Amino acid sequence: MDTLETLRTLSPLPGPVDLAERYAPPERGRHLRANMVAGLDGAAQRAGLSGGLGNAADRFLFSLLRGLADVVIVGAGTVRAEGYGPVRPVEGWGGLREGRSAVPPLAVISRTLDLDFDAPVFTEAVEPTIVLAPAGAPAERLRAARERAEVITAGEATLDFAAALAALEARGHRRMLCEGGPSVLAGFVAAGLLDELCLTLSPLLLAGAATRILNGPPLPVPEELSLAHALQDEDFLFLRYTRTR
Ligand SMILES: NC(=O)c1ccc[n+]([C@@H]2O[C@H](COP(=O)([O-])OP(=O)(O)OC[C@H]3O[C@@H](n4cnc5c(N)ncnc54)[C@H](OP(=O)(O)O)[C@@H]3O)[C@@H](O)[C@H]2O)c1
Repeated sequence: MDTLETLRTLSPLPGPVDLAERYAPPERGRHLRANMVAGLDGAAQRAGLSGGLGNAADRFLFSLLRGLADVVIVGAGTVRAEGYGPVRPVEGWGGLREGRSAVPPLAVISRTLDLDFDAPVFTEAVEPTIVLAPAGAPAERLRAARERAEVITAGEATLDFAAALAALEARGHRRMLCEGGPSVLAGFVAAGLLDELCLTLSPLLLAGAATRILNGPPLPVPEELSLAHALQDEDFLFLRYTRTR
């Protein structure tokens, strides 16, 4: 009773890890990756934001995953809560973006289009920000969005997540990174569209009313992922899970 064949210690391999290689998206086909951080008790926010959960390595990875992406998808709730700016070029990206635009554009998901179209996220974007909205979004807000962004409509009352991804792919954005938040991520998972989850596990216990990294109705069939790798930095774990089927 003192051993279990399937249980083993995760021994870190000595030496540095080539992160660009470890996190390289597949060479072909559409790929949707989410990058999220959570505390040990599952909290996806600290004082209403995600920033207080990570460490320097988490911020490094956040930037690297942007560098590897063709488009960065984010929910309007996160844009509003975190005062999201546009993606800015990072010197350390080096050759990561060879043959591609200097930065991946941001694609913001919204139903109400209750967004500040005069904010830097729209006015200072190196690559024009994209808005993903249902066709039934308020007409006046759609008009305002079109003045500042490329608007893609998919679905009627709510965004059709699959059609939105297909439209992004048709524009050449094959490697997609979703930075949440929890409502949008739940939508992608419910639609069966998530290929990979990069989860930073932060060594904090927070309790309170924070949501988990997915905030949506229960999934009739839980999505089961495979562990691709686990990295450690300080007391943080960087887990990469991929779709099994
Ligand atoms: N731990 C992490 O890694 C992490 C990552 C990101 C964010 N966060 C935190 O999570 C919180 C925000 O999360 P959230 O869940 O409230 O926001 P969210 O997922 O970023 O955005 C939710 C919004 O997206 C739009 N939306 C969602 N589903 C839609 C659909 N089917 N059709 C059309 N639009 C749709 C709606 O925008 P409209 O209301 O504009 O219609 C909705 O209010 C913040 O506290 C943020 O700091 C944590």
